[in-house]
Amino acid sequence: MQTLKVAIAGFGGVGRATANLLLQRRERYRQFYGVDVRLVAVCGSRTGLADANGLQADQLDALQPGLTGPDFVTASGASVLIEAGPSDFRSGGPGLAYLRSALSAGQDCIVISKGALVHSGPQLRELARASGAQLKLSGAAAAALPTLDLLEHSLAGCKVLAVEGILNATTNYLLDAMRTQGLGFDAALREAQTGGFAEADTRNDTEGWDTACKLLLLANFGLGANLTMSDVEVEGIHSVTAQRIDAWQSQGLVPRLVGSLSQVGGTIRASVGIKTYPLSDPFAQVNGKNKAIRISSDAMGETIAIGCGVEPLATAAAALKDFEHILQARGARPVSITEHSA
Ligand SMILES: NC(=O)c1ccc[n+]([C@@H]2O[C@H](COP(=O)([O-])OP(=O)(O)OC[C@H]3O[C@@H](n4cnc5c(N)ncnc54)[C@H](OP(=O)(O)O)[C@@H]3O)[C@@H](O)[C@H]2O)c1
Repeated sequence: MQTLKVAIAGFGGVGRATANLLLQRRERYRQFYGVDVRLVAVCGSRTGLADANGLQADQLDALQPGLTGPDFVTASGASVLIEAGPSDFRSGGPGLAYLRSALSAGQDCIVISKGALVHSGPQLRELARASGAQLKLSGAAAAALPTLDLLEHSLAGCKVLAVEGILNATTNYLLDAMRTQGLGFDAALREAQTGGFAEADTRNDTEGWDTACKLLLLANFGLGANLTMSDVEVEGIHSVTAQRIDAWQSQGLVPRLVGSLSQVGGTIRASVGIKTYPLSDPFAQVNGKNKAIRISSDAMGETIAIGCGVEPLATAAAALKDFEHILQARGARPVSITEHSA
């Protein structure tokens, strides 16, 4: 049986959830793909653990100091890197060094943090192309909501005319709370933070940057653009007052923070801002922490997906969906359903 070694860099909530799910699914990988998948290294910023024979779930609480960094991952012999460190789109974050090192060496990469992809996406894409490595990023591009998969697989061959996305769960939750309770932004944020529905610092979300990051990834990795953050017009939700909410309510309109891409004369335009929808529009029904995407294409019309999973499991599962696509692309033959159940 073929062996495939996996390393995880960034071992917080999402990295750990991904490790545990990968270990739980080892039997599936054996039976369904005929591959013995081993988790050979994990690391955070200062500690890590490696074992060429494969780490077990009960070892993952005993990380050792000093075992971290791109060289540590390389030395582990992993063929696939899952990167789940902190996201910083202004500097690229620690993920950038891991991804440059892994992609240059031809290791397939599954990226969950957005920072490096937003900061240096086209360069990382080129490193992957040059070495033949696969670069997958479902976890970074709205995770449980299928976005890039729709562009790459479901609409393959179609010309994409426009994309609209409700891509950030926190802002969608806040806008809904304002609408249903008649609150302004500050009051809704206080309430959400007190109830544990929003982080202490939500500026990345509420100022629109998280939506802009995901939109940029859809443009650059889904539509082959080369946009930078300076190409994206970004508006957040902090200026939404109770009066504006009331006015929209009286017109039967529902506000959403939406990332939009459109093709204008062969150029892709990107913007993030508040859009309002009549109740008859599916986007008006995307409540609470749900996310959604609507893609208009020349031959398949409008395609809409709506989704919301429980974190961090949903993001871990999105990353491991990418992993199964990598297994398939590496030639691991999925056993047919009848063969599998026989
Ligand atoms: N949480 C979600 O629901 C969600 C959903 C989609 C995407 N994401 C993205 O997933 C990523 C991880 O999220 P999280 O919630 O797991 O964050 P987290 O709990 O803060 O974990 C981040 C991890 O990265 C590690 N790290 C920092 N610098 C590193 C370095 N130089 N080398 C290796 N590891 C390093 C940290 O190590 P220490 O523990 O040593 O500090 C920590 O283990 C973020 O980029 C986030 O945007 C999260």
